[in-house]
Amino acid sequence: MNGNKIGPELSRIAPKFQAILERTKPYILTFPGNLSQYNLSPWGLSINQEHIFSCIDSRRARFFDLLQSLDQLAFGPVGMPMDKWVFFDCGEMPGGICGLGVQASELPNDVKKLYKLEKNATDFVPISMYISIPMAAPGAWFGHNLSSANTVLGGNYQGLGLLTKVLALKVFNIKLMYGATQWDSKSLNIHLQISDMEMMSAYTPAHSFNKTITYKSIYNDKILIDSLSGKTKDSCGYDFLADTEDEEKMIELQKQIEQGSCFCINGRPIYQDDKSFLPIKQLH
Ligand SMILES: CC(C)(COP(=O)(O)OP(=O)(O)OC[C@H]1O[C@@H](n2cnc3c(N)ncnc32)[C@H](O)[C@@H]1OP(=O)(O)O)[C@@H](O)C(=O)NCCC(=O)NCCS
Repeated sequence: MNGNKIGPELSRIAPKFQAILERTKPYILTFPGNLSQYNLSPWGLSINQEHIFSCIDSRRARFFDLLQSLDQLAFGPVGMPMDKWVFFDCGEMPGGICGLGVQASELPNDVKKLYKLEKNATDFVPISMYISIPMAAPGAWFGHNLSSANTVLGGNYQGLGLLTKVLALKVFNIKLMYGATQWDSKSLNIHLQISDMEMMSAYTPAHSFNKTITYKSIYNDKILIDSLSGKTKDSCGYDFLADTEDEEKMIELQKQIEQGSCFCINGRPIYQDDKSFLPIKQLH
């Protein structure tokens, strides 16, 4: 047990999230000049000094390698792993990386191997990360990467991805967020558990994957804490369900957006007969 102290606000979150916070430590990696803009004690949960990593400190090189291993675990299988320069140029310098970690001694040997760690390693190991980048539009951020080692760590970390995004949004003080997510991504369960997603694009040839949704979400403290209540945030009324594999529908929605329509995904994906659908409300 790492024994993080859970303050009054976090005592409202579901036991599975509290249990993760008790076993892990939050960390942040950024350019030191950004730190004054961030909340280093989110809901009273303090980020220890040794877990505040500077991206220009060569003595922390092992941690940078471990983050790249985590990214490889999460994004390698879908062909989107990042080079270190992408972490540095597009994440750490302009924005930051926030997540949860544990001591290597708490990881099973097969997991240490995935991180390319020796059996007797003593490193602090990131098991999740959220990378966010400020945009030029005032107050706007872009969510660049969400990774969780939940599935390789075993069942005790169920909820790690959601908890990590919520914690990072609080640390970076993000109220207005844009993101890009593939229609069939399981991470939609996380994004939509927190807040509705207004579609900026439904089909995105500018991205490596055409079948990408660009979205806008609004956050506040209540929304963040409520998302961790343990209650599933389902749609409370939609105009239609969009099949997450129906490329023609994506293209049609994109055309309508370009003609001035506005659509909002207002609840978690609905799974039916091996297919998944997004509940969509047309705002105008
Ligand atoms: C997507 C990812 C971040 C999820 O992390 P995680 O720690 O497993 O997520 P959580 O345990 O917090 O899951 C949150 C919810 O999503 C659901 N979920 C997660 N993976 C799922 C899957 N494969 N199928 C269906 N539901 C899933 C969980 O059941 C959970 O639901 P609940 O709130 O009802 O319990 C992780 O699998 C990952 O790193 N994937 C690869 C990288 C990626 O796709 N990142 C997102 C890019 S935007």
